[in-house]
Amino acid sequence: MKTNLFKITSPDDERLKIVGEALRNGEIAAIPTETVYGLAASALNPAAVEKIYVAKGRPGDNPLIVHISRLEQWNVLVRRMDNRALKLAKAFWPGPLTIILEKSDIVPLEVTGGLDTVAVRMPSHPIARAVIDCAGVPLAAPSANISGKPSPTCAEHVLDDLDGKVPYIIDGGECDVGVESTVITLKGETPRLLRPGAITVEMLKSVIGEIEVDKAVYNRLQDGQTAASPGMKYKHYSPNASVVLIKGDFERYRQYLKNADTKNAAALCFDEDAKALNDIDVITFGSEKDPLQQANRIFDALRTADKKGYGKVYARYPKTDGVGLAVFNRLIRAAGFNVV
Ligand code: TXA
Ligand code: MG
Repeated sequence: MKTNLFKITSPDDERLKIVGEALRNGEIAAIPTETVYGLAASALNPAAVEKIYVAKGRPGDNPLIVHISRLEQWNVLVRRMDNRALKLAKAFWPGPLTIILEKSDIVPLEVTGGLDTVAVRMPSHPIARAVIDCAGVPLAAPSANISGKPSPTCAEHVLDDLDGKVPYIIDGGECDVGVESTVITLKGETPRLLRPGAITVEMLKSVIGEIEVDKAVYNRLQDGQTAASPGMKYKHYSPNASVVLIKGDFERYRQYLKNADTKNAAALCFDEDAKALNDIDVITFGSEKDPLQQANRIFDALRTADKKGYGKVYARYPKTDGVGLAVFNRLIRAAGFNVV
């Protein structure tokens, strides 16, 4: 298949109509969002959605997020609307928050991985919104990477993974946020965070009060445990290199590296650390003081490790509050929970 790459900077670009029509007619397309690039298909068309799973090599029980551009589209996707959901949407939409509610009958089980709930978000990226408008249907879209790989934060990452597997890629520049949306479920009594992102636990609490953080955010699921968010049970965000996460401050990190096998290895560290590490190649992912910047750069850093062919990556342990929790959650999965 030939992949058409459209570099688009304006939501009025005429080529968005071509992509919108293709989506409406059952095709798939990679599109930019403010979080990461998504691989979109009509959320109401099971055959189109199936193409997403094939292109990504994604397990069929891992549900997709449905993207809308107008609030009215939400009502028909859910069984009943929920006041807390409306409050969250008012506070954070359009933006990097995904809200899970019980699904209505029009949402195919292919989208929800067989679950009776549907995850919905309204992205803030003007081109993402324009594509949804042009398609005229809500769009199911997981991150536009090969399943298990780091999520794509620019069109080049998408091309690396999906060239020849999708008919369209829209290049809308680099993603602002750089990690996927925060996912919260309102299915149970107490709202529960399933995936941390740029909308932090603290921000969510300020709008709807108490929330639980699912234990899969921090820990590996044990055999036999069911995942509230099926995506949590899969190996994820992993470069080819094996990643080790090193707990402790910079001194501990430097000591660890002194004794570690640094052949064909890289240090994945904060900007401030780089100049003090002389005996190992360095890949930085932002300032120690700036978790938003770390979120923005972490996936590119992991992909850089692959491009350079490292076999081993020793990563600094980020802070776990605020947006830091999102960075930590991705890194610990990239490391397959290998922490020392
Ligand atoms: O920022 C984002 O959310 C990006 C962009 C493209 O919007 N999308 C994204 O999709 O990250 P994906 O498929 O890579 O991650 C969706 C996550 C998975 O962990 C999945 O298991 C979970 O959300 N999820 C989706 N629907 C769910 C549901 N009904 N119940 C529980 N978890 C759900
Ligand atoms: Mg993903």
